[in-house]
Amino acid sequence: MLIVLVGPPGSGKGTQAKGLCERYGIPQVSTGDMLRAAKKAGTLDKQLLETMDKGGLVPDEVVIDLIDKRTDAADCAPGFLLDGFPRTVPQAEALGGLLARRGRKIDAVLQLDVPRHSLEERLIHRRTDKRTGQIYHLVYTPPPPGADLEHRADDKPETVGKRLDAYEAMTAALLPYYQAKGLLRRVDGVGKPEEVTARVLAALGGSSSGGE
Ligand code: AP5
Repeated sequence: MLIVLVGPPGSGKGTQAKGLCERYGIPQVSTGDMLRAAKKAGTLDKQLLETMDKGGLVPDEVVIDLIDKRTDAADCAPGFLLDGFPRTVPQAEALGGLLARRGRKIDAVLQLDVPRHSLEERLIHRRTDKRTGQIYHLVYTPPPPGADLEHRADDKPETVGKRLDAYEAMTAALLPYYQAKGLLRRVDGVGKPEEVTARVLAALGGSSSGGE
């Protein structure tokens, strides 16, 4: 199974990705997680780090290279779930090219729809457990006592608006691109996480097959 999860910042891509990956036995491939891991390891270029922290998009060639290498790893052989990539048409075209070279194709592109006012509220209250990577919301899914919590630099109120603007600007072209290919499936991302999961699975046809 090869799934692409798209949606604005805070729409629940990371939250939904975990369960989907367990269900289909595929790895989650998140460009945001990869960039944050490089930041933590001190290997992320200073300019890229500033771009990320200010809510901008890093250059296409950087994320395309990350995806090219990561999806060629052995654990991606049964399929994978892309979270946060592609975000632009050039990224989508590059993905199409590298999959074609490997004789693979996307099964579905899932778009999580959530209104902007909810996204802002979700992001500002998001916390992530540094040790486990578990995503929490201080109100809806509060962390347990003793969790070692992190507040992402780009989740500050002044940055969240910029990220949402950047997403709206770039998906204006990305969503029609996948719509035209008959791959786009829109899912209402409002409701309890488990309700959204049920809609996502329905959009995927409830399939647990491991197609290419
Ligand atoms: P990335 O890490 O991909 O961030 P994002 O797309 O902004 O998405 P988020 O991780 O913020 O949100 P999410 O949709 O995963 O929501 P979550 O499940 O956490 O990218 C970060 C940065 O890296 C980018 O800004 C850019 O600089 C760079 N980058 C990455 N990929 C790139 C690319 N392809 N090209 C260029 N640059 C790139 O949930 C959010 C909150 O909501 C949590 O608190 C959660 O508990 C809560 N929540 C989840 N579901 C629900 C629900 N159903 N109801 C209520 N609350 C919920």
